Amino acid sequence: MSPFLVIRTLPEDATEAALRADVLHGLTKTPKTLPPKWFYDAHGSELFEKITELPEYYPTRAEREILIVRSGEIAAATGARTLVELGSGSSEKTRHLLDALTGLHTYVPVDVSESALSQAGQALIAERPGLDVHALIADFTAGLTLPRTPGPRLVAFLGGTIGNLLPAERAAFLTSVRALMSPGDALLLGTDLVKDESVLVAAYDDAAGVTAEFNKNVLAVLNRELGADFDPDAFAHKAVWDADHEWIEMRLRSRTAQTVKIPALDLAVDFADGEELRTEVSAKFRKDGVRRELASAELELTHWWTDAEGRFALSLSGVR
Ligand code: AVJ
Repeated sequence: MSPFLVIRTLPEDATEAALRADVLHGLTKTPKTLPPKWFYDAHGSELFEKITELPEYYPTRAEREILIVRSGEIAAATGARTLVELGSGSSEKTRHLLDALTGLHTYVPVDVSESALSQAGQALIAERPGLDVHALIADFTAGLTLPRTPGPRLVAFLGGTIGNLLPAERAAFLTSVRALMSPGDALLLGTDLVKDESVLVAAYDDAAGVTAEFNKNVLAVLNRELGADFDPDAFAHKAVWDADHEWIEMRLRSRTAQTVKIPALDLAVDFADGEELRTEVSAKFRKDGVRRELASAELELTHWWTDAEGRFALSLSGVR
């Protein structure tokens, strides 16, 4: 039996403290915002899995296509013995990489969700005797310490989730990822690409209303965790393309003037009729921008692969 370790680097109460701080900060300023990480309780994670199967939501399929076609090249280019996956979630797409990385010794999935980590990890070690799985319950935006495992390391950050960080947060994130890497290590980064506005908006405002439910789920999280009294029906889902920033914004638009109470914060929050709360930014990228952002973190872009339709990209970069 190969080792399966789950190491908690987040204190049990860190999540709750972070939620309180984010909600207090985000709902007492103008415009109001909430960080997208609070979508992902068990129900939100299920809704996200449903989103990835929607006809309008192409990123997951496009990225899977690239992984299927390019995993051999990725394995040859990196020779990785350790795969670190940030925000690993269900580790579903990672299987293609794990199959191709023939010299792999250790898989280090990193996620804030303990349940996702143990489920994915248990399944993996059953399928792959000989692979060490060293799971980390950690917030990868906060500064990670990796276990001492054999190099070279491949750090993967898939799904286009880097687009959920604002530009300054992305710069800090890439710098902290770079700090985890040694010469010979590589970063595999998934980025959704700029494309026609109608395609982008449809991907974040699907006909079946799953993304609307996902967006409103953050209100249910606040109700449960902070005793808030949000009425999800009193808000409308919106997806807006911001052409200047080249990102999609998800918002919740107050259908009326209302006051929401958040007892855990001893807070009452007023919403004007039509006022919008920003719940997510999902940035879309171009090759030159990705190259530039990597270079600012002293990472050099060495490979760039897209799906056949050019909707999504995987890049590989190395320590300069
Ligand atoms: C996979 C987290 C990057 O921004 O496209 C899907 C999340 N939000 N639909 C994205 C999401 C709305 C998704 N990420």
